Amino acid sequence: MVTELTGFLEKKSFDSAICSTIYHYSEVGSTNTIAREKIDEEQSFGFVVVSERQTGGYGQRGNKWESPIGGLWCSIVLKPTFHISKIGLMPILAALSVAKTLDSLSIKTRLKWPNDILHYPDNKKIAGILVEGKVSQDSLEYIIIGIGMNVNNTSDQFSRSLRRKTTSIFEILDEKIPIMDIMASLLEQLEDQLLKLQNNNETKILSEWKKWDNVLGLNVRILSNDIEYIGIARDISTNGQLLLELKDGRTMKFSTGDLIL
Ligand code: BTN
Repeated sequence: MVTELTGFLEKKSFDSAICSTIYHYSEVGSTNTIAREKIDEEQSFGFVVVSERQTGGYGQRGNKWESPIGGLWCSIVLKPTFHISKIGLMPILAALSVAKTLDSLSIKTRLKWPNDILHYPDNKKIAGILVEGKVSQDSLEYIIIGIGMNVNNTSDQFSRSLRRKTTSIFEILDEKIPIMDIMASLLEQLEDQLLKLQNNNETKILSEWKKWDNVLGLNVRILSNDIEYIGIARDISTNGQLLLELKDGRTMKFSTGDLIL
């Protein structure tokens, strides 16, 4: 899958407590796939795979994720120290880290559970999160946090159907930002969020999420396992599940799903 390695950046040390190594490629199929291969080869954790473009990037439910040059396409591999029941909080922590990174550039965003970061107020997608992991004997062996972020790319690099729905840092600020600066900020923010999780401070994490959330209190449709549920998005649980109040008064919990406002 790896077509080319940018040798001088191939293995670079990075100043982060959660990730010490960054593997930098010019082109891969998917950074999440490379991350899994590296785990299998090296049995090590705490690294990042980043590629300048992806030819087989994928998102939720295996949807194609277009990844042209100029974006940040990365996978952060961690050895979790928290209980498996908290895995649903990972997209929340990652989305908060993205929102805070963008906030530091004065870019306003809203978070759409579980994995979308939308530019405010036009609701164009600026980033997405895909968390994958491996469970063995009821504990988490590793997690891969895949983050795709439109940084210096422009909408016209996307296929026609995506153009009107996406934006990038460059399109908003009219300024190119070094991708590795964004990466460093993301890791810093993620470290901060993980620390909260380690200290059992889910309430703090969720109250931060609610500052950026654009779903709670609204009528939504959730597509989960090919079934559509309609109701009001009431809350997010301390495990990261969305609580949906159905028309008949029942509340359902969703760990993942396609949410349509
Ligand atoms: C989504 O919104 O559906 C999630 C998109 C996640 C895309 C990122 S880009 C880096 C990593 N590699 C992938 O193939 N996917 C994730």
